[in-house]
This record gives sequence, structure tokens and C-alpha cells, in this order.
Amino acid sequence: MVKKNACVFISGSGTNLKALLKSSREYNFPININYVISSSKKAKGLEYAKLYKIPFSILNLNKIMSLESALKELNQKNISLICLAGYMKVLNKNFINKFKKKIINIHPSLLPKYKGLNTFERALKDNEKLTGCTVHYVNKKLDSGKIILKKNVFIEKNDSEETLKAKIQVKEYRAYSESVINIFR
Ligand code: GRF
Repeated sequence: MVKKNACVFISGSGTNLKALLKSSREYNFPININYVISSSKKAKGLEYAKLYKIPFSILNLNKIMSLESALKELNQKNISLICLAGYMKVLNKNFINKFKKKIINIHPSLLPKYKGLNTFERALKDNEKLTGCTVHYVNKKLDSGKIILKKNVFIEKNDSEETLKAKIQVKEYRAYSESVINIFR
């Protein structure tokens, strides 16, 4: 199978990057991860890029120079898909306009509910019984692009933000890989 080239954007622990890297090693998975971009040089997730020998850059896409250089790199590497995986910066609108291929994101709630930050805390406070994660296309509005896939997680009485996060993240790893398969099917 001819795989498409993909770039994963991270800011933190990078466990979704790790899961995507694992999937990408499977013969039938539609993408290779050729590049990792991190908003911070301290992101723990960079360890996975190093482990899998994937080139990476530290960029601040809100700076014009960085925007231009990131686009150049992505085009040079023939990147067809950007996966935002815990990327904690809002993507610059110019960047979204100028990058002509697909950009997707994973979000820890059942969108359109709980866009933005602190999703676990807000769901618990509202006594929700159900939450989960959503993979969606990225557009210029925060967490508002077309939905690709959602996975449910039940909230139990004794759940805390930490237990909820852990349960949701397990679902995220599958949701992200399944979404990538869906979009290139
Ligand atoms: C994920 O839980 C995702 O929902 C959110 O940021 C978190 C990143 O975790 N967008 P990791 O860096 O992939 O471990």
C-alpha cells in the first residue's frame, strides 16, 4: 500500500503520538508519520519522535516567520495530513488557510459539548453520565470542524478528573487511528 505522509503536532506527553506511531507501523495503515512539530522543546512526547527516529521541530506557529518555515517544511515533506494531538496552541488562521491538505484534531469530550479546556472538570460538575472523545477536522473556529468519529465513556459515581482522563485517553488512541483509516478509505 502507498502510504500518505503525515505530521503530528504535540505540546505535552504525546501518548496519542505514540499510539499513531504504533499504528503507522502496520502494513495496512494509510499513513506514515514523517514529521513531528512541538510547541515546546520540553514536551515529553518528543521522546517518542526520537525513539521512532522521526524528524521534529519546535515551532511557534503564531509567529509569521515560523508559520512560513513550517509550511515550507510540510510542503517539502509532501505532508497530506496534520494530526493535532494535544497541541495546546490555537492554530493560526493563516496557517489553516495556507495548508491545503487535511488537518484533524482529537478532543476529550463529545463535541459539540465542552469545547475548549477543562472538559473533565466541566462534565463532572454538570453531573453528566456520558462523555468521551471526538476526532474532527480543524477549521477556524475552536473545536468546531466536521466530526469524523466519537467514542463514548460512561461517567461513574466515583470518577475524578484523573480517572476520567485515563478512561478517555484509552478510547482516544483507538479513535484517532480509526479516524485516519476512515478518511483515507
Ligand atoms: C489528549 O487527551 C487530547 O484529548 C487532548 O490533549 C491530550 C493530549 O494527550 N487534545 P497526549 O499528549 O496525547 O498524551
